[in-house]
Amino acid sequence: MKISVFGLGYVGAVSAGCLTAAGHEVVGVDPAAIKVDLINDGRSPVIEEGLDEFIGRAVQAGRLRATQDVYDAIRSTDLSLVCVGTPSKPNGDLDLRHVAAVSREVGEALSMKNGRHTVVIRSTVMPGTTRGLVIPLLEKASGRQAGTGFGVGNNPEFLREGTAVADFFHPPKTVIGAVDGQTSDDIAALYGDLPAPLIRTSIEVGEMVKYCDNAWHALKVTFANEIGTTCKAAGIDSHAVMDIFCKDSKLNLSSTYLKPGFAFGGSCLPKDVRALAYRARSLDLDLPVLNAILQSNERQISRGFDLITARGKRAVSFLGVSFKAGTDDLRESPILELVERLIGKGYDVRIFDKNVSLSKLVGANREFLLKSIPHVSSLLVGSLDEALCHGETIVVGTRDPAFMKIGERLRPEHFLVDLVRIEARQQLDGRYDGINW
Ligand SMILES: NC(=O)c1ccc[n+]([C@@H]2O[C@H](COP(=O)([O-])OP(=O)(O)OC[C@H]3O[C@@H](n4cnc5c(N)ncnc54)[C@H](O)[C@@H]3O)[C@@H](O)[C@H]2O)c1
Repeated sequence: MKISVFGLGYVGAVSAGCLTAAGHEVVGVDPAAIKVDLINDGRSPVIEEGLDEFIGRAVQAGRLRATQDVYDAIRSTDLSLVCVGTPSKPNGDLDLRHVAAVSREVGEALSMKNGRHTVVIRSTVMPGTTRGLVIPLLEKASGRQAGTGFGVGNNPEFLREGTAVADFFHPPKTVIGAVDGQTSDDIAALYGDLPAPLIRTSIEVGEMVKYCDNAWHALKVTFANEIGTTCKAAGIDSHAVMDIFCKDSKLNLSSTYLKPGFAFGGSCLPKDVRALAYRARSLDLDLPVLNAILQSNERQISRGFDLITARGKRAVSFLGVSFKAGTDDLRESPILELVERLIGKGYDVRIFDKNVSLSKLVGANREFLLKSIPHVSSLLVGSLDEALCHGETIVVGTRDPAFMKIGERLRPEHFLVDLVRIEARQQLDGRYDGINW
């Protein structure tokens, strides 16, 4: 393919060099004369292992050149990768000056070009930027419409400086967001058969994934550091702890616990996070990430409360109240906390949970229900039908298989608040709200 790369910094230079190594022809564009000259001299404008050789070979073979002339670059290529910087403003917001400038410049050049061209945002931009800023600027300057007049998509970059070339050829994933299928195919063709999962999605999801990744990586670093700080103060070898932690690919380094949903609860997580935060405090340690966990969980309960009360309907039925499906443990159930807040505000609440009925409960859980929350036990109903009959707002609280298709059982006047992401959500359009979706 014939590709123009806008911005010859880390991302642009690595993309340009590596794409030529994969057989493509590349024209690099940058307003900085020094970067353009370096590329045309066959040298990399950034230090990355292996990149100088790729660039040197490609320039010699006539497959790579650089220019400051946007028209030249657009005229001689079919697809443009936008790799310009998106630095922080003093208030933390993104400075999109360079993205806006390139969008205008590419749009103007497109107005003088016949034939199809695809513009791909590779810079890290906030969700909504491509549709809200890039496309309008491209359309205005080119006089063409996105989708029909030119293709637009995004293709976030996941390379790490220092191992960028190796990461380019062995990425963790290739993500393509696009306005149409043809654009998505054009972007996919850039990567031939790189050994990585190719994921096609919407532009907004593509934009957000990059932030999700980076926030997660940053959280991992700070989490490990706070565990390390606690270990050091307690005289424990932090690396021994984290080495064992990392060996668990079932619960720790896995997709477990990484689906948006309701607050955590149960007899272990809240208690143990609380105890760890207390221990850190008693060791005079300031650990903001560990301290924020319970606070964030608490906010999630408030979000659930707001979602239910926003409807203004007083009769509320909960389907599932234990902290997860398949258990009768009510200790520190966040849904129970939600129920208690609603009762406190005068809501008329009923609960159906087949694992939590007084007739079935034995031992500690029966005692807990009768002694600690007797007012809740009087809200339990014996069947799903009874719960549906009572509530105007139905809240699904656990992933019990019986609740996953509950949409089919709802009456037109029911409103469903979903804390677990049930199946068949779409059919409830206008009568449905999910906690985090
Ligand atoms: N550096 C990384 O490891 C990395 C990894 C993934 C994603 N990203 C993202 O990729 C983007 C680029 O990052 P970078 O580190 O390569 O930035 P950089 O600052 O190293 O390079 C940006 C380049 O864009 C050029 N530029 C500015 N305006 C231009 C214009 N109108 N036309 C053409 N070129 C122009 C600049 O002169 C500069 O050479 C950012 O959004 C960044 O967040 C960076």
